[in-house]
Amino acid sequence: MLANSLVELDRAHLIHPVASWRGHEAAGVRVLKSAKGATVTDASGRTLLDGFAGLWCVNAGYGHESIIEAATKQLRELPYATGYFGLGSEPAIRLASRLAEHAPGDLTHVFFTLGGSDAIDTTVRFVRYYWQAKGQPQKEHFLSVEQGYHGSTTVGSGLTALPAFHTGFGVPYTWQHKIPSHYSYRNPAGDRPEAIIAASLAALTAKVEALGGADKVAAFYLEPIQGSGGVIVPPTGWVKAMREACKAMDILFIADEVITGFGRTGPIFACLEEDIVPDMMTTAKGLTSGYVPMGALFLSDHMYQVMADAAGPAAIGHGFTYSAHPVSAAIGLAVLDLYENGLFDNGRKVGALLQQGLASLADHPLVGNVRGRGMLAALELVTDKERKTPLPASAKASTRIFDRAWDNGLVIRAFMQGVVGYAPPLCCTEDDIAEIIERTRKTLDQTLADPDVRAAMA
Ligand SMILES: Cc1ncc(COP(=O)(O)O)c(C=O)c1O
Repeated sequence: MLANSLVELDRAHLIHPVASWRGHEAAGVRVLKSAKGATVTDASGRTLLDGFAGLWCVNAGYGHESIIEAATKQLRELPYATGYFGLGSEPAIRLASRLAEHAPGDLTHVFFTLGGSDAIDTTVRFVRYYWQAKGQPQKEHFLSVEQGYHGSTTVGSGLTALPAFHTGFGVPYTWQHKIPSHYSYRNPAGDRPEAIIAASLAALTAKVEALGGADKVAAFYLEPIQGSGGVIVPPTGWVKAMREACKAMDILFIADEVITGFGRTGPIFACLEEDIVPDMMTTAKGLTSGYVPMGALFLSDHMYQVMADAAGPAAIGHGFTYSAHPVSAAIGLAVLDLYENGLFDNGRKVGALLQQGLASLADHPLVGNVRGRGMLAALELVTDKERKTPLPASAKASTRIFDRAWDNGLVIRAFMQGVVGYAPPLCCTEDDIAEIIERTRKTLDQTLADPDVRAAMA
């Protein structure tokens, strides 16, 4: 009764992110009630393994008492402190300094946001401010990568390269451009890493030339692994090659680590594994493990000094009421303690098992491609492995596979094109990983038995 009335109230009043509003009205909400470790329990009392850590954010897993205690203590002591007027709070200062210690190279200045989208939005403002400060305001074009995702604000959605974020919204703007993704599984340049890297470098150079040369280009954005585009892993050396090309052309390089940060791929930041230092780096999600909203933009010292000198005594006019929120920061510190005291290690251990387990599904008739790193992975489903034929549209991959996995007690992300995404909490046990694989196998077998899928395979 309670659940039914919640469904009706939700239908009438709550707008869900990135949803077909009519589709959602018809389907109704699934209400989650509680969570513990790597599992979530719905309003009917069913417990499921959360193979996607909420929205690839609950890296620490659910129900950590140390996080709850840190939040409660902070709420009692000082629930809010502005960063305006030169004020501050201890947790925010300590978190910034601990993050700076972990950050690659000279990314030692931290601006806190409420999530990933406003961290990206902040980078756009800082890029513009920086080039103005350097006396090069004509550097105004921004580049990003097809199938990339950089959030949903008015400017960020134009850097994002997923059609649903553009249609009807008047973006991308004329100063926002894309180069093709590295997408090894379906790359016209083939699947050899050197060929893909060469093709991407050529595409970057050609795009810069087409825009009037590097003198007109402000910044290039990438995700170390493309997340929302379908967990697309670049060949080894691709990120570094793009970073070096940008440096050579004096184009700012921004690494969007909103998903890959905080142990998702193994190290605290994927850039460390790529052995690169971006000019700016965005993070969110795992920063607070999703317990409360917070993002962090890392600004390099070389950009910071230019901006600070140019402003002199004047204010740099960028800020949010909730930047560096003390409760979020206290949670960030508690989460970092958990990461450093075993969770990163566990994530690396079970991440290897996740990759092995998914690789063991490669011989399933529907699995065309298995990819990932650490606790981030995907299966790409096809009806013909040779031709890499996607599932038929009638299979409605994004809902049918999600629903079926759900019924099998597993939360995954089912992307529209038939890609199944995984980003489990780093606290998973070996048994949790084995269950994720088993429940996936069952879901694939059931999908293989669907008449429309069988017909497409004949
Ligand atoms: C790479 C990347 N950048 C930015 C964002 C936006 O973050 P948020 O949803 O916290 O605004 C996301 C969200 O998934 C993301 O994956």
